Amino acid sequence: MIKKAVLPAAGLGTRFLPATKASPKEMLPIVDKPMIQYAVEEAESCGIREFVIITGKNKRSIEDHFDSSVALEENLKQAGKETLLDEINRHRHLAFAYIRQGRPLGLGHAIECAKPFVQNEPFVVSLSDDIIDPDDTLLADMIEIFNTYQSPVVALEEVPESEVHKYGIIKGIHVKSDLYKIESLIEKPAREESPSNLAVIGRYILTPDIFDILEEMPPGRAGEYQLTDALNGLLAKRDIYGLIYRGARYDAGDKFGFLQATINLALKRPDFSDQLKEYIVSTAEKLR
Ligand code: G1P
Repeated sequence: MIKKAVLPAAGLGTRFLPATKASPKEMLPIVDKPMIQYAVEEAESCGIREFVIITGKNKRSIEDHFDSSVALEENLKQAGKETLLDEINRHRHLAFAYIRQGRPLGLGHAIECAKPFVQNEPFVVSLSDDIIDPDDTLLADMIEIFNTYQSPVVALEEVPESEVHKYGIIKGIHVKSDLYKIESLIEKPAREESPSNLAVIGRYILTPDIFDILEEMPPGRAGEYQLTDALNGLLAKRDIYGLIYRGARYDAGDKFGFLQATINLALKRPDFSDQLKEYIVSTAEKLR
């Protein structure tokens, strides 16, 4: 059973400056929830109760967010705002640990930092920039594959050739329906050298033997320790599977993706979806 999730959140968020000058990118709200909360709730819906968040400078508000806030709770209680009170207390039953990455040495290094907390268990890695439609079951489906094959699983998406340079790309053998057995991976290849258009997106189920590889491997692309390289190394020891995701994913680390996530997730909100739909339609008419 998978009990732990590692959420890397140490990046500088330069694509969102000036908003991220003093606040973490992970705390930018999509509608009314910080980005990272979507990833936490997605994992929680799969039974995960322990979270290791890899942080860095200017990230304290993430810790405060998942902590209790006595003054606010008291205030809401007295004002009779029970719904909001439940909302801010909904993470009470989860455990959060924070590790500071210290130096920005890459995603592989960020995951390596989680070793003392993960220890000898399989675990989820979730990149909170990649927002998966909360009504979808990607992570649950990945966990099912992990349970069947007892092998690491990464989430994949078919991307246009013009975008392969933004992702880790796999070469794989088709197993059945949306499942691939991975033969090799390459981090952010040029279009000409890309082995496929199957891109790794920010959900992984890993086994603890990845730490041995991370500890020994040299830095890779851009001088950083790449998780993609560690997965390539792990392939020498065990099978790794990839599951194609066909639902909605928003790259909220990108400004346009962030706007798309905001609009689409707001459209799912019963409290104002009708009003927003009307607004979008009337704005589109004006733009014509
Ligand atoms: C990271 C990984 C990359 C993966 C991507 C998914 O890249 O290194 O292999 O495809 O996440 O979002 P980043 O987006 O951090 O540059």
